[in-house]
This record gives sequence, C-alpha cells and structure tokens, in this order.
Amino acid sequence: MQTDLRGRDFISDLDFSKEEVETVLDVAWDLKRKRALGEPHPLLRDKTLAMLFFFSSTRTRGSFEAGMAQLGGHAAFIESKTTQIAHGDTAKEIGEILGRYYDGIAIRHVDWGVGNAYMREVARYSRVPVLNMQCDIYHPFQALADLMTIIEKKGRNLRGQTVAVSWAYAASYQKPISVPQSLILVLTRFGMNVRLVHPPEYKLMPDILDQAAEEARRAGGAFEILHDMDEGFRGADVVYPKSWGCLLTTSDLEESASIGKRYADWICDERRMGLTAEDSIYMHCLPADRGIEVAEAVIDKQAGPGWTSVVYDEAENRLHVQKAVMALTMR
Ligand code: CP
Repeated sequence: MQTDLRGRDFISDLDFSKEEVETVLDVAWDLKRKRALGEPHPLLRDKTLAMLFFFSSTRTRGSFEAGMAQLGGHAAFIESKTTQIAHGDTAKEIGEILGRYYDGIAIRHVDWGVGNAYMREVARYSRVPVLNMQCDIYHPFQALADLMTIIEKKGRNLRGQTVAVSWAYAASYQKPISVPQSLILVLTRFGMNVRLVHPPEYKLMPDILDQAAEEARRAGGAFEILHDMDEGFRGADVVYPKSWGCLLTTSDLEESASIGKRYADWICDERRMGLTAEDSIYMHCLPADRGIEVAEAVIDKQAGPGWTSVVYDEAENRLHVQKAVMALTMR
C-alpha cells in the first residue's frame, strides 16, 4: 500500500496515482468505521486548516470543518470577500503567509479561467499542502466521495459497470464543469464504462476528454460521448445527471440561458430511471434544482425495489474521504 502522501497537494484528480487513491479509500473506510464505533481518531491533533472560500458552499465547508475537529484539529473559515484579498493580497502572499500559520490550505475558487490557476499559484508559494475544494476545472473531493459511494453500492471491482455522467437542465445558475470533468477522470481510471452525455453545446475541456479516454484504455474500460439522454441512461448501472454551464461555447450569460432552455426536457425523471439497469443508483453532488434537474420522486427514493437515490450517502462520504486525505497529507 502506497502511503507517501505527506506534504502533497491535491488539486487535480490525477495528482494521486491509482494506488494512492486506493490508500485514501482504505483510510476513509477505516475512519468511517471508527466514527461509527465512536472511537476517537485524533490523527491531526493541534493541526490547523485554512479553508478559503471565493464561492458559497454547504457540504464542502461543513464536512471539512467537522472533519478537522474529528481529527483533533481546527479548521478556520475564511471568505475572500471579508479579507484583504478584496484589497489586493496576492496568491503568492496567501501561499507564503497562510502556509506559515496553518498546516494545510484548502481553497474553493470556481471562476472560469481563474480558479485552478489561483490554486496552483498559492501552492507554488505554500510550504503546506494545498487542497482543492473545487475549482473551475476539478472537484476532486467530490469525485473521491462518489467513487467511494459507487464501490459501497456496486462492489470493489467496477470493471464492466456502466455509468452515465449526464448533463441535465437547471435554471438556478451556470454550474461549473468541474464535477463531470473529475468524474470522467476518476471513473474511467477505475475501469468503468463511462458515458458522457450532453447536448452538443455543453462540451467539456478537450484535454480532460483525452485524459479520460487514456485512463479508460489503461484500465480496460470504455469512454464514449453521447448526445441523447435516453440513450445514455439505457442499461446504466449508475446515473449521475447534473447541470453544468456551456462555458466552452459562450461566455455570454444571456446566450447560455437561452441555449439551456432548448434542453429543458433533460430532466432525470421516473421514466428515464426506468430505462436504467435493475438496481441502478441515482447520484448527484447537490445542490440540485428539484423539479427541473431531477424529479422529486427520483431524488427522494432512498429505498428499492428498482433504482435508488444515494445522494445522502454520497454527501456523507465527503466527510470520510476528506478526513483521509487530510490525515495523509497534513501529518
Ligand atoms: N457538492 C458540493 O460541493 O456541495 P457544496 O457546494 O454545498 O459544498
């Protein structure tokens, strides 16, 4: 088991090797078991994490903060808009200075074309690990939690299992493309047959598509792109329909809203779940646009027969994988 993660950044899904991800999962299951038994596990006693948010959050903030406390340390919630970042603190200064105060720096910055570059700049000047709480390109902790959840529901050998990572319509806001991008990288790597399903305007970054295809080739799985939601769902063991913005097509918000409305029928409803394989699972990172992106009858169906929604198990697993990565990198 490869365990040499001390001091390492986790910014892109592929920053850790497959073996290192397996180590993270093993530690996450151990920590999940300890929490279930009420066994203390203060692996980061007296350590501190800076959580720097440029964008709102419910699950990410809550799970990192609770996770650090459960590991015996402390997480500080810092919002960019209430700090001197708003008045000129640079990424270099944040890396240098927060790296001297804290034992890890976690950042959420999803601005398109900015977030990932910002994190990499902070990491360049930080003496402690930088952890990506979501950027414009990746949401690696979400993908780790999703992988953990799929293994819990479908077994450790995912080869031969089909997952549909599908676009769905939402009216709330232009959601980042980081979740589908991280998912196709991680799930191909673990041998799944990955279908990326979206209207033509909602394409993902070409480099990420190439990497996903290469991961599928290495793992003996498959990676295909489809433009029909029903076709994507047909026979799938796992469906992950969620909205994302058409960021690679237009930067104009009005135009993107108008493009989205053309596909308002891309909703995950009971009819579409009926196309999936027996005992399939419905996943979503949340928050979801209920009644628009997904029918209430789908997201709220937490028990069989037939397909089930696993959204709460998925959200819980954020806590366990993040604790595992923090314990391994911030020791
Ligand atoms: N899934 C997720 O990252 O949730 P939050 O935006 O609430 O953190």
